Amino acid sequence: MCGIFGYIGKNVKVSALIDGLSRLEYRGYDSCGFAGVHQGRFFLRKRPGKIAQLKKELKPVLNNQFGTAILHTRWATHGEPNKKNAHPHLGGAGNIAIVHNGIIENYMKLRSILIQEGVKFLSDTDTEVISHLIEKFYKGTIEEAVYEAVKELKGSYALGVISKREPDKLVVVRKGSPLIIGLGKDGKFLASDLPALTSLVKKVVHLEDEQIAVVSRCDTKVFNFQREQVDVKIEDIIITAEDTGKKGLAHFMLKEIYEQPQVFKRIQSLYVKNNRVCFPNINMKESYFKNIKKIYITACGTAYHAGYVGKYLLEKYCNLDIELDTSSEFRYRKVNLGKDNLLIAISQSGETADTLAAVKEAKKKGAKILSICNVLGSSLIKESHGFIHTVAGPEIGVASTKAYTAQMSAFYLFTLYLSQVKGLVDEKQSQEFLFDFEKVSQYVEDIFKDDKKMKKIARKFSRFGCFLFLGRGINYPLAMEGALKLKEISYIPAEGYAAGEMKHGPIALIDEYRGVVCIAPKDELYEKMVSNIQEIKARKGKVLGILNRGDTEASTLSDEIIYIPEFKNQDFAPFLVAVCLQLFAYHVAKNLKCEIDQPRNLAKSVTVE
Ligand code: F6R
Repeated sequence: MCGIFGYIGKNVKVSALIDGLSRLEYRGYDSCGFAGVHQGRFFLRKRPGKIAQLKKELKPVLNNQFGTAILHTRWATHGEPNKKNAHPHLGGAGNIAIVHNGIIENYMKLRSILIQEGVKFLSDTDTEVISHLIEKFYKGTIEEAVYEAVKELKGSYALGVISKREPDKLVVVRKGSPLIIGLGKDGKFLASDLPALTSLVKKVVHLEDEQIAVVSRCDTKVFNFQREQVDVKIEDIIITAEDTGKKGLAHFMLKEIYEQPQVFKRIQSLYVKNNRVCFPNINMKESYFKNIKKIYITACGTAYHAGYVGKYLLEKYCNLDIELDTSSEFRYRKVNLGKDNLLIAISQSGETADTLAAVKEAKKKGAKILSICNVLGSSLIKESHGFIHTVAGPEIGVASTKAYTAQMSAFYLFTLYLSQVKGLVDEKQSQEFLFDFEKVSQYVEDIFKDDKKMKKIARKFSRFGCFLFLGRGINYPLAMEGALKLKEISYIPAEGYAAGEMKHGPIALIDEYRGVVCIAPKDELYEKMVSNIQEIKARKGKVLGILNRGDTEASTLSDEIIYIPEFKNQDFAPFLVAVCLQLFAYHVAKNLKCEIDQPRNLAKSVTVE
C-alpha cells in the first residue's frame, strides 16, 4: 500500500519519473505527489486523485530534468485523501522532503511532543512527524538525522528522504515495508516494487528489514539500524517489462485471467518429475512431513480462500487435522503452537502485514513456517523455513486472479507430495491425480472460448443489486472467492455462503431481484446442491448455475448456465469454477463501467495492519 518512487543521478525527465510512479499505482491511487531539487530549492507538486491528474498538472515541465527526486502514490491511512495529506511532506524548515509507506504507531505522542516544541503541522498524516523529526535532527547530513529520527519511530515504514542542501544524496529506510534500489548507468532509482524498475535497470538491491541506504549517483552504502555497514547484495531483475504490461488487453485483470493456463503448465513442469512431486525450496525433511499430524494455514483475502481449498484437500487426501484462520485473527489468537507444528502462510505479495505478523508470532513459539508465495525475495519468503514459489509472474490487477489459482495449484501438488511421502498413494493414484491436474489448463482454455456467452450472462446479471454465491465442500471457498471478486470490482454487495447454511439466515434475502450463483458440479454433494437450488427457485431467486456439461437436473432449474468440463476426479473442479467466477465478475464490472484494475478504496499489497 502506497507506492514510492525516486531517483538520484545525472538527470532524468519528469515524464520518466511519472511513468515509473504510474507502474506502482496499483499500490494506492487516492492522491500523489512529486518533489525534486532544482537549483537548491524544492520543486513540489501534490494533488488528490490519480497520477494522470498530477501528470496533467506537470505538463509544462514534463521535459525538464531532475537529478534528485522522490514521488509517491498514496492509499490513505491517516488523514483523508486531499492535497495537504498527499506526500511528499516537508520538514518545518523546508530542508528535507520525505515519502513514506507504512504506519507510524506512536505518531500521536510524537506529534504532541513536536507541537510543544513549536512545530506547526500542515497535514493530518502520521508521516508528517517523520519529516519534522528528521528536520529537527538535521545538522548537515541527512543520514545522521534519519538515524536519530528512526530511533523515535514505532511501526512500519519505507522511507525516501532528500534534502535541498545535499542534492547528491537519497537516503532510504526499510522497516516492515518493501523498498528496492535499481542500479542504472547514470543514476539509481528507488521503488516499492519491481514492476516500476523493469524498463529502467537490470540490477537491483532489495533492501532488508531495518536497513538504511545512503544512495548517490556513484555509490550505494547500506547500514543496519546499529549503523554498521553491511554488504550490498546485487541481484538481477528476473521479470521483464513485457511481464508487467497489459499485452494489448483492456485491463491487467483480464490479461492475468488469460495467463492462467500457462501458469498451471509452468507449475507442473517445475514441480513434477516422473509422477513425483518435488519442491526444491521446501527445506524440510521428508521424515518431518511423514509424522506430521496437524497443520495450521493462514492468509488474508483471496489467499485465505486458496488456503481453504488447501484445507479440504489436505484433510481428505492426507488424513491431517487442519486449522485455518485469517492472519488478522490468527496473529492475536492464543494458539498453542510449538516446534512440532507447521504453519503454512499464503501470500501473493509476501508483504501483507497481518500474514507477516502471524508468521513472526508462530516462529516465536517455535513453529516451522512453509510459505506459498509469488514474490521471490519478499519478506514472507525471508521469514520462512521453506517456501513454494507460485511462479505466476507479476500480478498488477488489484483483484487477485492468476496468483489465486497458482496458490491453489501449490496446494494440490503439496497434497500429492504429502500423500506420496506418507505412503498414502501408489504410483497409479499419483498418475491419476496428475492426469487431472494436467487437464486443468486445457479445460480453462475451453472456458475462454465461451467468452461471448459469458458477456451476455454478465450483462443480464449486472442489474441485480445483491448476490449470493453458494457452494458446498471444496466449492464453498470458491463461493466466498466469487463473492469477493464481484464485490471488490463491481461494488455490488455479495455474500459467499456454504449452501447448507442458507436456511439459517441468508434465504431471507432471496426474491426475484437477487442473483444467486450456484456452484454445482457433479460431485458427491451435487444432489444436495440441487435441493438448495430448488429452494431458491421456490422463492423466485434468479439462478446462475456453474454446472458440468451434460447436466440434467440443476440445469432445468437455472435461469442461466455457465458450463464447465467434467474431471475424472471432480475435486479439480475449483480451478474451472474460479476462472468462471473471475470472468463473471470482470464482465459485470465492465458493464457497470467500474475501474477494474483500481477499485475504489483498495490497493494491492496490504503492508499496513
Ligand atoms: C482480492 C485480493 C486480496 C489479497 C489479500 C492478500 O482480490 O487480492 O484479498 O488476496 O490482500 O494479499 P497477499 O496475497 O499479497 O498476501
